Amino acid sequence: MKAPTGARILSGVKPSGILHLGNFFGAVRQHIDLQEENDAIYFIADYHSLDSVRDAAERRKLSLDIALDYLAFGLDPERAILYRQSDLPEVAELTWILGTVTPMGLLERCHAYKDQMAHGGKPDFGLFAYPVLMAADILIHSANFVPVGQDQKQHIEVTRDIAVKFNTTYGDVLTLPEPYILEALATVPGTDGRKMSKSYNNTIEMFATAKQLKKQVMGTVTDSTPVEDPKNPDESNLFTLWSLFATGAEQQEMADRFRAGGLGYGDVKKDLLERVMDYFADARTRREKLVSDLPSVEAILKRGAARARDAVAPLMDRVRQASGLGA
Ligand code: ADP
Ligand code: TRP
Repeated sequence: MKAPTGARILSGVKPSGILHLGNFFGAVRQHIDLQEENDAIYFIADYHSLDSVRDAAERRKLSLDIALDYLAFGLDPERAILYRQSDLPEVAELTWILGTVTPMGLLERCHAYKDQMAHGGKPDFGLFAYPVLMAADILIHSANFVPVGQDQKQHIEVTRDIAVKFNTTYGDVLTLPEPYILEALATVPGTDGRKMSKSYNNTIEMFATAKQLKKQVMGTVTDSTPVEDPKNPDESNLFTLWSLFATGAEQQEMADRFRAGGLGYGDVKKDLLERVMDYFADARTRREKLVSDLPSVEAILKRGAARARDAVAPLMDRVRQASGLGA
């Protein structure tokens, strides 16, 4: 699907840990790009994180990390809106209202809840109602497109169903959003060849210290083909990772060198490390600067929340009017 232009884009980012190359190439980079041609709104989903993180200080730190990362990658707070979800408490009000038109069956089919049930977990109300909160996040801004990974598509469909329920009950107030599935880039492999994921401990983290980053990149698992033998680039996660930072022509040349033999994996890793450092040099510098001035980051979030609250006020008025809440 072609990237939207002139649309209202909204996405939420769950504060759940240090970002890695998979997150960047799979989601964050597209979020930043979308601010150019659209009305982009991004928020740090700290209400959502209540389900998985139970430590207050940790939640604050993880939430701040998202702000630092997005700003370091070039999110322009003048152009896009960036706020912390809990600074827009109207969203909790809308969640309640939407919950009253949401059939239980719809939520019972949602995968996060279903997975917990299937694994003998004891889901709480928050996990069960998570898709209603997500619907409120989206509908409160009358968003047209929601850029998310494939795993979140079901939640956008649920959002549409809930919006239709509300609109048929109280009148046409809510705008139906479309998912904008971020699948342009294939899955980024981890250093062990599986999907890069913080749960597998196989990540390359662009904001790690230079020493850690070196350890992660040099730790990329390769096969034991001797230097002089030909190697298959199509089966090499090292080649795939390296290719993220190379032009088409460079990729072709490297693929030829793999096949020709005489190429040591160690040299490719060293070059990959250099490219990663180069590619993220500006972002790393910007992040360090932001870390040394946290009050300015907090001010950006507060200003983003103030803009978001102004933006949602008319819709919330219409919702209350239509449903007969208040005078
Ligand atoms: P993790 O697997 O490390 O827990 P998340 O599930 O928090 O990562 O990922 C957030 C978003 O980042 C996903 O919706 C997806 O779009 C993107 N993403 C994560 N890992 C990868 C990967 N290896 N390749 C491509 N995109 C990824
Ligand atoms: N549920 C999303 C995730 O786990 C995060 C999220 C919360 C979100 N609210 C949203 C994404 C609204 C898009 C729109 O990744």
